[in-house]
Amino acid sequence: MSTDAPEEQSPYGSGSRGSEPPATSGAPGGTAPLPRRVRIPHLQAMKAEGRRWAMLTAYDMYAAQIFDEAGIPVLLVGDSAGNNVYGYETTVPVTLDEMIPLVRAVSSAARRALVVADLPFGSYGASVEQGFASAVRLMKEGLAHAVKLEGGTAMVPLVRALTGAGIPVMAHVGFTPQSEHQLGGYRVQGRGDAADALVDEARALQEAGAFSVVLEMVPSPVAARVTEVLEIPTIGIGAGSGTDAQVLVWSDFAGLRSGKAPRFVKKYADLRGTLLDAARAYAADVESGAFPDASHSFES
Ligand code: KIV
Repeated sequence: MSTDAPEEQSPYGSGSRGSEPPATSGAPGGTAPLPRRVRIPHLQAMKAEGRRWAMLTAYDMYAAQIFDEAGIPVLLVGDSAGNNVYGYETTVPVTLDEMIPLVRAVSSAARRALVVADLPFGSYGASVEQGFASAVRLMKEGLAHAVKLEGGTAMVPLVRALTGAGIPVMAHVGFTPQSEHQLGGYRVQGRGDAADALVDEARALQEAGAFSVVLEMVPSPVAARVTEVLEIPTIGIGAGSGTDAQVLVWSDFAGLRSGKAPRFVKKYADLRGTLLDAARAYAADVESGAFPDASHSFES
């Protein structure tokens, strides 16, 4: 894979979204500049330079706009929408038809970030043909820039077919939530003797053309070993600090969910508390007659 950065501007114009963001703003963590549109060679170059980066999930326009403005280079429209948008207990019930409007909203709102869309359970496991057709829908109807799929060597033929047809693929190994029933629940993967198999799977996905690989709930030393062995970026979640990038589900990192978060989640805000306070204050104002006052009303 070439690590040359692409031209900053498309020779075909900037599309319908008006002016592009400045080339030097929105750097992750306020350190190094990001390109106008993050593309796969930029992620490859960051690995080569040893620059770590953050990925967040997003499922709607506002989250996408905010994270894009913050300089998050990759937004994932994860099938974690099942637990975080649709109210399901797992990601298993999520359908392609449920994913597409979310992907379209995020892709339409993000001006700089690379938008990756998850292929949901049941939309790619039956055959290469099924996976190919589903990925094409995420790209054409969802306007995604890349797709993500879960699974190891069994996914190699599909990854080959997709990347051969110009559809970039982010792979996902270790704990794969779509297989949680098969795996017997949320369990760390790749421990002990299983570590070598995990490394081999990640390598096979890279050889098939994947541009990056998510490592979920993998012991830190194993994730660091995969990162060392691979030329493509690794993105960890519950995989320690030795990966090239990290990903968090946005409702977890922003403190929107109730109850206990998984061990690997760090809460960077308390949006649930903020919204609870706001909703209670609003209800109290309406009940007391304090809202709306004259400044929020129209005179004759
Ligand atoms: O669906 C999702 O959000 C994911 C990430 C947690 C990697 O797969």
